Amino acid sequence: MINKIKLLSKLGWYKMTQKYANSSQDYDKASGDYDTFFSDKMGRHSIQLLNKLDIKPGQDVLELACGTGFITNEIAKRLEGSGSITTVDQSQGMLEVAKAKLSSYSTLKLNMQQNDMMRFLGQTPDCHFNTVVCGWAICYTNPVQFMREVNRVLKPNGQVGIIETRIDSEELLMTAFEKVLSNDPSYLRRYINIKLPSNSDVLKRWFLKGDLNTTDLWEGEQPIPCVTSEDALEWILRSGAAAGFLDVIDRTREQEMLGKIKEELDRTLLEEKKLRLSHTYVAGVASKEIS
Ligand SMILES: C[S@@+](CC[C@H](N)C(=O)[O-])C[C@H]1O[C@@H](n2cnc3c(N)ncnc32)[C@H](O)[C@@H]1O
Repeated sequence: MINKIKLLSKLGWYKMTQKYANSSQDYDKASGDYDTFFSDKMGRHSIQLLNKLDIKPGQDVLELACGTGFITNEIAKRLEGSGSITTVDQSQGMLEVAKAKLSSYSTLKLNMQQNDMMRFLGQTPDCHFNTVVCGWAICYTNPVQFMREVNRVLKPNGQVGIIETRIDSEELLMTAFEKVLSNDPSYLRRYINIKLPSNSDVLKRWFLKGDLNTTDLWEGEQPIPCVTSEDALEWILRSGAAAGFLDVIDRTREQEMLGKIKEELDRTLLEEKKLRLSHTYVAGVASKEIS
């Protein structure tokens, strides 16, 4: 109980003083493995989102937080060599992988830059893009401000596609992480400022607040096969799923904390005979309708 109070007051203090965790260092580190782990499992759901968008040759497409360019590459295929793709990502490591992946599309106009997505949107003129896509990263912004800016930079009848992790995703790991932190709040060094939706209605509300008209909305779940606690830890570290969360804790004690999380997972394995890990998500498409 005392430790829980300590943890909450520390969290409150870091939030008040805006000592926020930044995910870039963790994504830089995960960039080499991200496609083998995250894209391999979750990429199919991003493709489902792209299949619901009307991306055609000649369009100007903006992808915010492109990461290693998995979605960018799929957009490039759909443009069939004509049009433009602008991408923004904060992590230099992720962006480098994306640039290498896109290097063969010589006839597309490509603008791939390291930037904060809200800063980029703020610098972009009105009515600039036919399509805006953001995969697995709206959580790092203020979603309502994000939608308002997306609306502003979209051309009339432009479309936006969003896919994002749901708050109950990878509950097994989050429960272990929270337990270790509440047992020893001294691990905590920063506040993690991410906004994960609890269901697709939340995404619909974000679209609405940005004056965007929802045309499609769905949710899903991807099981992540894990036999041992080592498998589960490998997934969070190499898929980028722990990005931002590792920056919350005292970096000098990262290995020690991971060891404690492993102990928690081993306890669950002993009690439940199985590690149930799944990545849940919401997704949606909306348009800027001009009456
Ligand atoms: C889970 S990855 C998703 C990457 C890619 N969209 C995909 O579908 O694989 C999240 C990405 O968001 C980027 N990111 C986080 N906060 C950002 C910000 N404020 N501005 C730009 N990029 C950001 C990270 O660097 C990382 O590459």
